[in-house]
Amino acid sequence: MPVISKAAVADGHVVSLATSAVPAFDRSRGGAAATHVAIIMDGNGRWASARGLPRIAGHREGARAVRRTIEAAIRAGVSWLTIYAFSSENWRRPAGEIIDLTGLLRRYLQTEIAELKESGVRLRFIGERDRFDPDIQRDLAKAEADTRTNTRLNLTIALSYGARAEIAAAARAAIAAVQDGTLKPEDLTEDRFAGFLTTHDTPDPDLIIRTSGEQRLSNFLLWQAAYAEFVFLDVLWPDFDATHFDAALAEYARRERRFGARAG
Ligand code: IPE
Ligand code: IPE
Ligand code: MG
Repeated sequence: MPVISKAAVADGHVVSLATSAVPAFDRSRGGAAATHVAIIMDGNGRWASARGLPRIAGHREGARAVRRTIEAAIRAGVSWLTIYAFSSENWRRPAGEIIDLTGLLRRYLQTEIAELKESGVRLRFIGERDRFDPDIQRDLAKAEADTRTNTRLNLTIALSYGARAEIAAAARAAIAAVQDGTLKPEDLTEDRFAGFLTTHDTPDPDLIIRTSGEQRLSNFLLWQAAYAEFVFLDVLWPDFDATHFDAALAEYARRERRFGARAG
């Protein structure tokens, strides 16, 4: 799968995207704008190690990149943004890093939500929120409630999220609906099934960006990504900015999406 362009620095860490190498998007060729952009924010640890800093420094800088990205999405007129902040599998990390990450999340919720609300952002969280401390769970619910009427940008943050767990939970919910008589097995279409996913009120992602040069989904939106376009960037997440975001959107707009049909 293509990496749109890269510039390696002398020490071998690939840290920046040479946006000048991205040809300008020609609208006459008919590319559509992305409605929903999803991002796998990867590379915080490598960013910190490259500087001889503790991993938490990379996560902190990563939180700043989240802020820039939300602003970039609003400026670009993207209506839906989903960011993968913490996977179900990330609980396997050492206890110290988990404490650092949950501490950062706690602070983020306490300090950023008011501004997001002001900016017209509606927040949603997907993932196993009951694995977080009760105060964090309360703040997540409050952030969703406080921003419910906002419409400028729909921001979903995936926290302790795993797509296979999400799909298994949807299957259990569908079975329960069959058992209580509200659903007939033959009526369980793809659309009805998607209605049992945590993303039931969200369109599928058009574009999935992953930073840090890794080219995998790591259990992110497996159902929803069926026809997403992928852009893999050789930039570490803490270095990600509006230039990278806009370049990925331009790359998306150059792609031809066929959904299994024939071109032209
Ligand atoms: C992404 O950065 C943040 C989380 C997964 C929580 P990483 O912490 O995975 O950074 P790398 O991949 O080790 O560089
Ligand atoms: C994926 O990154 C999860 C998030 C970005 C939150 P990881 O760093 O956890 O993924 P792997 O382990 O490299 O696949
Ligand atoms: Mg990683």
